[in-house]
Amino acid sequence: MTSTPTPALPLLDQYGRVASDLRVSLTDRCNLRCSYCMPAEGLDWLPGPEILNDDEVVRLIEIAVSRLGVQEVRFTGGEPLIRRGFVDIVRRTAQLTPRPQISVTTNGIGLDKVAPALAAAGLDRVNVSLDTVRPETFRAITRRGRLDDVMRGLGGAAAAGLTPVKVNAVLLRGHNDDQAAELLHWCIGHGYELRFIEQMPLDAQHGWSRAEMITADEILTALEAEFDLAAHPDERGSAPAELFVVDGGPATVGVIGSVTRPFCGDCDRVRLTADGQVRNCLFAREESDLRQALRVGAPDDEIADLWRVAMWSKRPGHGIDDESFLQPARPMSAIGG
Ligand code: GTP
Ligand code: 5AD
Ligand code: SF4
Repeated sequence: MTSTPTPALPLLDQYGRVASDLRVSLTDRCNLRCSYCMPAEGLDWLPGPEILNDDEVVRLIEIAVSRLGVQEVRFTGGEPLIRRGFVDIVRRTAQLTPRPQISVTTNGIGLDKVAPALAAAGLDRVNVSLDTVRPETFRAITRRGRLDDVMRGLGGAAAAGLTPVKVNAVLLRGHNDDQAAELLHWCIGHGYELRFIEQMPLDAQHGWSRAEMITADEILTALEAEFDLAAHPDERGSAPAELFVVDGGPATVGVIGSVTRPFCGDCDRVRLTADGQVRNCLFAREESDLRQALRVGAPDDEIADLWRVAMWSKRPGHGIDDESFLQPARPMSAIGG
């Protein structure tokens, strides 16, 4: 049995990793139905009373930045832009001391309208999910015909200075796996930093199969048919994306090889779900309840201690390749990616 650490400052685990990047899911709902994430009919959403209210969210973020050494806050979903009060949550987060870096991972729908307000509130940058620039492929993957909205959202984010604007793409065999180079041409043309993500076993339908997944090697081979790629000279640190310089630069492309090129050893992330549960890993099968502590009136130092204890038991890796691997009960849309 391992002992819990003396609650001294940061979010440390027993392998020596320190979590300084907090990913906060603000809702499990979404206005798309990407096939690798959700079934067509949607899911049973979290009941309203279980979801942290704005004050509760901001209080937990404040504890994280003021007591636990968190330096970056990324808002996720479901789709975070559909959370009422999002701009205000960003504003209040930007007023914390020390002020964290603030970003959002979004599907981009409606981003053009809200980007100026988000920038004024203190949002630093955005990552937008976009798997294809073909309307028919977009509809097939997301089950909604909203490619134009996403493209407008991307443009609005760049115009509002929420840069660098990054684009996340998942390639699916038989759908868009022939479009990697096309997507990279488009992103470079618009000044967006594209990253391809290996599909992970986090879909609600449990339809993931390793054999079907498009691997980092396949992605790179497809890109190298049209572009010259060179390893990026910068230190990667804890970033999920392995970066490549495209055609001598300055453009880059990233590959997030979560499955075949895992980066768990350098992980600096911790997650908070919309209903106030700490997840020490994307693939964690246990969660720690902070909502209960909040709602019975626990003081900040007690909540900070619960959070430290939750991190200590973080596993060394996701274990997707292990015989014993079990997909977590929560799907990606309720964890936030
Ligand atoms: P930046 O490059 O700093 O903007 O951050 P990021 O790449 O972590 O952000 P983003 O939210 O865009 O995540 C991109 C993809 O990386 C998503 O599919 C995430 O699920 C995946 N990802 C992020 N963190 C982890 C992690 O801890 N483990 C794994 N396996 N995947 C992760
Ligand atoms: N595997 C990999 N990436 C996924 N995303 C959603 N579901 C999966 C999955 N099963 C991506 C989205 C978004 C980010 C938050 O995670 O496309 O860019
Ligand atoms: Fe797609 Fe993200 Fe919505 Fe899932 S949460 S359906 S990946 S846009």
